[in-house]
Formats: sequence, C-alpha cells, structure tokens
Amino acid sequence: MMKEKIAACRAQIDEALSKIASGEQLKEFHARFLGKAGAITALMRDLGQIPKEERPAAGQLINEFKNSVTERFKALEAEVAKREMQAKYDSESVDVSMPAVMHAPGALHPTSLVKARLCEVFAGMGFRVWEGSEIEDDYHNFTALNTPKDHPARDKQDTFYIGEDIVLRTHTSPGQIHCMETMKPPFKVVMPGRVFRCDDDATHTPMFHQIEGLVIDRHVSLCDLQGLLDTLAKAMFTPDTKTRFRPSYFPFTEPSVEVDVSCCECGGSGCRLCKGTGWIEILGGGVVNRRVIANCGLDPDEWTGLAFGAGLDRIAMLKYGVNNIHILYDGDQSILRQFRK
Ligand code: DAH
Repeated sequence: MMKEKIAACRAQIDEALSKIASGEQLKEFHARFLGKAGAITALMRDLGQIPKEERPAAGQLINEFKNSVTERFKALEAEVAKREMQAKYDSESVDVSMPAVMHAPGALHPTSLVKARLCEVFAGMGFRVWEGSEIEDDYHNFTALNTPKDHPARDKQDTFYIGEDIVLRTHTSPGQIHCMETMKPPFKVVMPGRVFRCDDDATHTPMFHQIEGLVIDRHVSLCDLQGLLDTLAKAMFTPDTKTRFRPSYFPFTEPSVEVDVSCCECGGSGCRLCKGTGWIEILGGGVVNRRVIANCGLDPDEWTGLAFGAGLDRIAMLKYGVNNIHILYDGDQSILRQFRK
C-alpha cells in the first residue's frame, strides 16, 4: 500500500524535477513535496492509518524516500543557483568599447580665486585667516562697532533681521570684535566671508563676499595701512598698480579712508570703467576707533589698530572684466568654465 503511494509520488516528483529551471520553480517544488503541507509530509501522516506492525517498515521507506528527494532537490538547487549567477554575469557584462560619459573638470569660482589669492598674500605678511559666523547679534554687527541703535550709519545698510537683535551680518567687520575679544594682542587677521544686505541691482546682490583685515599692535598708523593695501593692490592687479587714500567716514575707524587703485583697464589715463578719472574705489579702511578698542576690553592708550574691508566680488569683477555682479551668481557654465586653469 505505502509502496504504491511512494511510487506514485516518486513519479510525480521525477516529472516535476525535470521541469525545474528557476529558483521560483524550486520554491514551488519544495512547498508541493517537501514542505509542511507537502506530499511527503502527507505520507508521514498516513502512517497513523496503517496497522501498527507495518508502521516501522513503512516509516523507514518514507524516510529513505524523503532523504533521496531532499538530496536531489539540493543538487538541483545548487545547479540552478549557478545557472542564474552565470546568466546574471552574462547580462551585466560591460561593453568596454562604449563611448564614456565625459565629466568636465570643475573650476574655482572667480570670487574664490580672489579670496584665495588675498588670503595667500596676507598669510605671507604674517596674517592669520579667521572665519566668523554669518549670523551675528546686533551688538557685534553694529553696537560694538560704534554704531549704536540711533546711529545714522545704520540706515546705510538695509539689514536682514532673523530674530530680535539677530541679523545676517551686513559686513565682515563684526569679526574684528570677535578677534579683539578673544585673541591676545598684538595680532594680524584677515577674515573672508559671506555678507548679506537687502540690495539687488547690477552691482549688488543680497549675498556677497567681503574680506576684512585687522591689525592690533602698539603704535600703528595710517602709513602702515597704506603699505599693506599697496601690497594688496599690486598682488591682486598688476605690480605697477598705484593706490591712493581719500578721506571718508566709518563709525568704527578714525580717521577713515576710502582706497582707490589706478584703473586696471586703462592704467590711469581714463576710460569708461573708471568714468574718466583713472581711479577705481576698491575698499574702505582706517585706524580703528578708540571706542571700538575699548568696547572689546583692550586699553586704547596701549593698543592701536588698523582695519579695512573689501568686496571680494567687486575685486573679481574688476580683475576679470565682469560688468554685472549677477553674472557671478547665475551659474552659467560657459562663463565659469573660462576660469578653469
Ligand atoms: N564694513 C564696511 C562696509 O561694509 C567696510 C569697512 C570700512 C571695513 C572700513 C573696515 C573699515 O574694517 O575700517 O562697508
């Protein structure tokens, strides 16, 4: 009885095994014959219905049958896995003769080039490079820089307030305060970074870049500033670039100056770029106001300072002949590619 059942089952199994070609079919086979609800398990269950004395022999037959099926199943499983792996390898093979997707090399942005060059020049004069936070409190951005709440100079800068007394810095000058508060004088620092103002036209964007310079030492004077800025101008433009100081006003410097360089376009003879004057303004600076030094807890009778602030985008525009600041921020590859070395 059991022998016949096994023979019938074996016939089914032989047929099923011969048709298996995929992992999916293997799974189905396992469920149909070897799984908990499978045919061989059903044979085991049938044991209960046959006479007690025949059971051990029948049980042994079923076990042998199950073992042999399991063995064949495992062998086939290994073979199918091998075949499927081979098919995968074949289908994923790489065609080395296909033309490659070309990735053009990137380039440093003109503003980054100017920033890197200036940091290099100042590092060569013993300055350290320090980068502050783009979010400042009102105190560091204005008050400590001798620009109190009712000061008319605050009107000059339309500021992004992002909280009560918290602003996106309108200039890199708050870096001066942080340095004087934390560094031991004498020291020399340059501070490049992003700054923000509500401004948007051909020469202004809401975000732009400045570099701030600060020297704190004993007995520094406007002559030292002129020497520094002359070095800056010659390194940035050409070795024969000249600089000149014009009197100006900033709350945080006294005296204050605006600094012009001889026009990089015409060399000083007068052209459209310099509006016929031969000079182009590039930055503001001066001798650090005694009040600013005192605000930072230093003795203004002992320590003196020089400071300047320059627009990096403006210098990049002058240096590379870009006439609209938006060109620097449009992300136009055909323009930016030209700065690839
Ligand atoms: N912070 C000024 C501005 O954004 C630029 C400036 C002027 C910086 C004079 C200075 C300075 O350090 O001494 O317009």
